[in-house]
Amino acid sequence: MKRFAVFASGYGSNLQAIIDALKKDKVSARLCLVVSDNKKAFALKRALKAGIPTVTFDPQSFVTRQAMDRAMIKELRTFHVDFVVLAGYMRILSPVFVKAFHNKILNIHPSLLPSFKGAHAIKDAFDYGVRSTGVTVHLVDEKVDHGPILAQEALSIRAKDTLRTLEARIHRTEHKMYPKIIDLFAKGKISTRRLAA
Ligand code: GRF
Repeated sequence: MKRFAVFASGYGSNLQAIIDALKKDKVSARLCLVVSDNKKAFALKRALKAGIPTVTFDPQSFVTRQAMDRAMIKELRTFHVDFVVLAGYMRILSPVFVKAFHNKILNIHPSLLPSFKGAHAIKDAFDYGVRSTGVTVHLVDEKVDHGPILAQEALSIRAKDTLRTLEARIHRTEHKMYPKIIDLFAKGKISTRRLAA
């Protein structure tokens, strides 16, 4: 069975959805480590409660991003991690890290990429007035919110939606979608249509 690590910086609702799916045997892989850059992340409490080892890498303790990423790679090797799942990890990974886990890093983003990259994707889509937005799961390359797409789910923005209801609908979609895609990825049953240019 493949082994994976989840990276999370904050609330960790996607991590929770993954943990819940694992408990129901809906993900055929082993979550062996939760990594954070923020020791106060609620995600770490969720991991602790589920009995999953955690480690925090404080960016302040490293001179460069590369130095931190090298330390993370070392830790992941210790845990024999096969692939990495970003779930609300708010830091950009350096090329050193991306190369070490080439095509083995998944990210979830709350928009239909390549639209609305960045940290405020749901609000940006809502404010723009688009009729449809959604969720993307993709492989991570060296650019931000970019890389070969594994799966997308679209949501219509309804006239009665507020930013809050849209956020809730997007998060529900994420929580259903991410564990399924992780399961398929772990089994080698999902591929990209083509590489994003
Ligand atoms: C999610 O919306 C995810 O798509 C984005 O960051 C958010 C993380 O939420 N990358 P949570 O920490 O999993 O609750």
